[in-house]
Amino acid sequence: MKEEQLSAINRSTISMSRLNKILNIVLDEITQMEDFERDQPLTWSMKHMFTCSQISKLIAASRKLDIEIAGIAGAIHDLFLIRTGIFDDHAPKGGPLVKDFLNKFNKTYGEEFGYLSEKEIEIIYQATIFHTDKTNYTKDEMVELTKDADALDRFLHGKDIPKHYIPRYKAALKDLKLL
Ligand SMILES: [Fe+2]
Repeated sequence: MKEEQLSAINRSTISMSRLNKILNIVLDEITQMEDFERDQPLTWSMKHMFTCSQISKLIAASRKLDIEIAGIAGAIHDLFLIRTGIFDDHAPKGGPLVKDFLNKFNKTYGEEFGYLSEKEIEIIYQATIFHTDKTNYTKDEMVELTKDADALDRFLHGKDIPKHYIPRYKAALKDLKLL
């Protein structure tokens, strides 16, 4: 977690300007889409975007990772699925989409809402392309965070989850001192 985020928590606010703008952009996209012939309903994608983002922030705080970047990864890791309605390969196919989305965000909104650095974009890209690989554990903390947050969010929404998601949401609950 960034120093300024830590000290801000001790005071009154943390900067979420980039994430909040991104949530608004994707929400606008979703509300203009038609909800048919999708592998997962748009209402689910919308709920999951917001709640996975918040859960990612909590896990980031517990693991001392960047809260806003975790929130952005949590919000847009399913961007391919959101835009196309296609679940198959949505993680690897989402990578270039996410990179393009964030570069466009920088060009259009960076000045007003804050720029994402190349390093931050790469972190979110990695989290996106590997988030469905729940059985493997890597050294990339944001990749692992996004997998855990994804599993915990699905679990909390009462979704049927595969067995290998269980250690994932448990790891998150443990770090949040809820287990
Ligand atoms: Fe997800």
